[in-house]
Amino acid sequence: MATIRDVAKLAGVSVATISRYLNKSGYVNAETEQTIRSAISKLNYVPNHVARGLAGKKTNTIALLLPDISNLFFSDLARAVEDVAAMYGYTVIFGNSDDQGFKEKKYIETLKNKYIDGIIFASYTFERDEADMLTKLGIPFVCLDRGPSEATSSIVRAKNREGAVMAVRHLLEIGCRKIAHIYGPQHLVTAKERLIGYEQALADADWYSPSLLEPGNFRIAEGIKATEELMSRHPDIDGIFAGNDQMAIGSLKALNRMGISVGEQVAVCGFDGIQTTEITSPELTTVAQPIYDMGATISRLLIKKIEGKLDEDKLYELDVKLIIRDSTSRRTSTHEQT
Ligand code: RIB
Repeated sequence: MATIRDVAKLAGVSVATISRYLNKSGYVNAETEQTIRSAISKLNYVPNHVARGLAGKKTNTIALLLPDISNLFFSDLARAVEDVAAMYGYTVIFGNSDDQGFKEKKYIETLKNKYIDGIIFASYTFERDEADMLTKLGIPFVCLDRGPSEATSSIVRAKNREGAVMAVRHLLEIGCRKIAHIYGPQHLVTAKERLIGYEQALADADWYSPSLLEPGNFRIAEGIKATEELMSRHPDIDGIFAGNDQMAIGSLKALNRMGISVGEQVAVCGFDGIQTTEITSPELTTVAQPIYDMGATISRLLIKKIEGKLDEDKLYELDVKLIIRDSTSRRTSTHEQT
């Protein structure tokens, strides 16, 4: 194991400078910082107190990095992670990354020195070099929902593509013949898979056009805006599949504002299965992800990994369920009469 002296020697600075850099207890210029960082990486140096914390000294604490806990999808996930962790005697600390790489990196830096036993990443910007760095440091980690498939860890998510196909097939079955899709940020594997599922389900629709696609960022306001865009572009849209429930709720709001009857004139289907879908008016049809199971499964996997009982890392894709409610209960449509 490299020592602080080895780092100082390789970086060509004093031990005191290295210590100042590590403890952020004084000025170190940017160039020296960079030299020190590359020396630490080359020597695979782990500060003594961190090594003690990680090597064998367990703290029974795990971290859960989420994109945005204000979205009920993630707060429900967090609830499940914490319930299961507590069953095994672990405490969970949470952080919001907002899918921002720099925030995530800051959390990883902080968590590295805070004696955590493992990390669950439910965010996106998790890159390969971070995976390698955590592996080098011996910090077990797993990915949830958005984690990139090539991450060197176990990943738990829902069957997003199949769920999107279920949503669109349902809209077709109730007679929709002009179905739009409000899609989530395409750098996220979940949003990308849902868009693929939507297009797959409409492969034989002669009326399909890419102009029936509108981007959103998984938030309510974007769902409102996207619906207004779509309806002005295609007033004859009679079905909308939104890439998550928050955008679907925005869609309900926009259609209500336009005096359009949801269900009879335009059917709306969401994705996630958050509780809010039970209290909207009309209640929202959605593709429900097994949110609690996802959180419980990832929590168990990480704890097994921490305790050296996980045989292999792999991708777990859990089944989704279509919950049909009034937002897609169309009266007999003109199409059905013909
Ligand atoms: O609502 C937030 C969305 O981001 C969910 O659909 C979830 O799958 C995540 O990717």
